[in-house]
Amino acid sequence: MEDIKQQLAINGGEKTLNKKFPWPIFDQTDLEAIGEVAKSGAWGNPDCAGLVEQFEREYADYCGSKYAITCVNGSVALRLALIACGVKPGDEVIVPPYTFIATASIVLEANCVPVFVDIHPETYNMDPDEIEKAITPKTKVIIPVHFAGQACDMDAIMEIAQKHHLRVIEDAAHAHGGEYKGKKLGSIGDAGCFSFQSSKNLTSGEGGIVVTDDEKLYNMMNSLRNVGRVKDGMWYEHHNPGCNYRITQLQAALLLKQLSRLEDQTQRRDENGRYLNSLLEKIDGIQPLTRGHGETLHTYHLYIFKYDKSKFNNLSKREFTDMLAAEGVPSFMGYPQPLYKQPLFQKKNFMCYAIPEEVDYTEVCCPETEKACYEDAVWIMQNTMLGTKEDMDLIALAIRKIQEAVND
Ligand SMILES: Cc1ncc(COP(=O)(O)O)c(C=O)c1O
Repeated sequence: MEDIKQQLAINGGEKTLNKKFPWPIFDQTDLEAIGEVAKSGAWGNPDCAGLVEQFEREYADYCGSKYAITCVNGSVALRLALIACGVKPGDEVIVPPYTFIATASIVLEANCVPVFVDIHPETYNMDPDEIEKAITPKTKVIIPVHFAGQACDMDAIMEIAQKHHLRVIEDAAHAHGGEYKGKKLGSIGDAGCFSFQSSKNLTSGEGGIVVTDDEKLYNMMNSLRNVGRVKDGMWYEHHNPGCNYRITQLQAALLLKQLSRLEDQTQRRDENGRYLNSLLEKIDGIQPLTRGHGETLHTYHLYIFKYDKSKFNNLSKREFTDMLAAEGVPSFMGYPQPLYKQPLFQKKNFMCYAIPEEVDYTEVCCPETEKACYEDAVWIMQNTMLGTKEDMDLIALAIRKIQEAVND
């Protein structure tokens, strides 16, 4: 009986999955592309021309969008899109509480008020029914997050937005190459924002991009990322309160190479995700998230399943993820708490931003997000999803091994 517990890797037993999952993936051609830029001496890009422009064109085409604007990171991409939408101080912006802080903090940075709307327990994406309930005369924008690369219910969200005359900015930081009803994520709302930070499915270490079909939004975002300059204006002529948010040619060279691999990688993650779902749904106490309505391609930036400790002898989520990580599965607990529980919101550390006095997050409660954070959600990183079918078998085996041992 002791034996089976000792076989756990956390107790010194053999790892179930003894393999590294490299990320980022690159080869000699990436190095040559960067080398070419390095040799040229044109590292920066004050005119956002050359390779930066080429990458923007290719990414816009890839998404099926008219325009794209690169910038220093995904947070700034969201910030540019929100400000370009013309929000005013005190406007309300609907966001989920199960996301990275930037989705909500950029709202504060625009002097607007984030209004948190709970996620659906089956998909972990914002629940359209809850969105409708949260709309007030002050609501101006909805920011749905395609969490983990799973498409939000965009038909329902766009219908609500149209009915209430709201703008939709898709936070697609996890969703490069993902699809909803055959359309690329990010290309459905007024604007779609992506991150190229190092863990992301398309990366240049840091970086971001916004795609849009709206020429006015495009022109404003172009100005905002380039210190308020305008097309055909003079170098020291500044029309809008922008900043230098430009990326370098070195990043663009890398992104062009990385983009050429994205579609194959996305297909691979999607295929592995479907297969892993089929394995894990057979394990009592493990429930993979349901694939969304109308989703045709999931990017699995994160593979997420729900863990029910009652089927694992009440082993806490932390103990379970520690054991799973020890078995060689790159897994972790995800967000420890909903965004509105962060000190930023609880203590109203809004500094210079003009957030109305009466705004108060101490009574906010989104039960599904709390359950996901505190009890259910277990995350596996995207690079694991680039592994083989056998690797997926071993992930399921590792979970079964833990279950057997703790229930013994
Ligand atoms: C959902 C989401 N939105 C926005 C961002 C911000 O991107 P960046 O880190 O590039 O600023 C992230 C980054 O992790 C994210 O996960």
